[in-house]
Amino acid sequence: MAFKIGDRDMIIPHPFPYQGSKRNIAKSILRFFPDSSEGLIEPFAGSCAVSIAAAFFSKAKTFILNDSNIALMSLWDMIIKKPRELATQYRILWIEQQGNERSYYDAIRKDFNKSHNPAFLLYLLARCVKGSIRYNSNGEFNQSPDNRRKGMHPDKMEANIYNVSELFTGKIKLLNSDYKEALKLASSEDIVYMDPPYQGVCNKRDPRYISGLTFSNFVNTLNELNNRNISFILSYDGRTGNKTYGKPMPKSLSLHKIEINAGPSTQATLLGKRSLTHEALYLSPALIERLKDIEPRKLIHQPRQLSLFEYAQV
Ligand SMILES: C[S@@+](CC[C@H](N)C(=O)[O-])C[C@H]1O[C@@H](n2cnc3c(N)ncnc32)[C@H](O)[C@@H]1O
Repeated sequence: MAFKIGDRDMIIPHPFPYQGSKRNIAKSILRFFPDSSEGLIEPFAGSCAVSIAAAFFSKAKTFILNDSNIALMSLWDMIIKKPRELATQYRILWIEQQGNERSYYDAIRKDFNKSHNPAFLLYLLARCVKGSIRYNSNGEFNQSPDNRRKGMHPDKMEANIYNVSELFTGKIKLLNSDYKEALKLASSEDIVYMDPPYQGVCNKRDPRYISGLTFSNFVNTLNELNNRNISFILSYDGRTGNKTYGKPMPKSLSLHKIEINAGPSTQATLLGKRSLTHEALYLSPALIERLKDIEPRKLIHQPRQLSLFEYAQV
């Protein structure tokens, strides 16, 4: 049974867990969206948590979702265009695994690495450790299963897939390219939400990289967006307690930094500590200009860093 779309008390649908997903803070991020935007562009889409929330709350008329991961974008294509077929295939996999979950996962992972079947990827994401896509040096998916989880129940999966498909049908363009290609399509009427892979969670500890992207190259791209008057929101660094991740964005970009309280850090909780995680958002000058018409106007232009609670509920 599908959840009814439009009922604001219903849960926002999500077909799969994904490491780094912004699902928990998507609604907080939407507070910084202008009242009306033609399009929302997500160049580092992943599980598309912000786009799904934006579609759910009608924050944009059209959507461009891009990710460099080809298998992931094939999965999104099927979620949106063939929801019934995908839900049926997932149900078959989920039922077939019963009583044999570990070896079944291994067999599907092997098959996925040969066929790249999107239904297999959905099953793997539903069951793998931390919803984390990992590949070996041959480009094969090699993440282990989380043996405590059997994966989302097929009834719930079906409802999630159908609802996400309905939210996006007729309004979406999917791309599988480098983030810069997606940014070429942005206009000043749009809003761009960017969530590049973090330094904090990637293996590469070199601060000149944002997991594969050169920091200086990325900063140049942001500068070009400013020159084109593009409204964008960047999720970039963050901190847990006093520990900050990520090299600060240069002042020359004139970005407005906001911190969102993302709740207790899982790592700290495991260690018996009580540190809170704060995720940073950077708002572009063009976006700040569009937001100044919403209340409270005076707070938008204050130079000091604002807490989320100082902003009006959007
Ligand atoms: C932190 S995740 C985004 C998570 C997303 N906000 C969500 O809610 O699930 C970053 C994504 O960027 C993608 N990516 C990495 N490098 C990229 C590039 N150069 N261009 C486009 N996408 C890229 C990764 O495949 C990954 O899905």
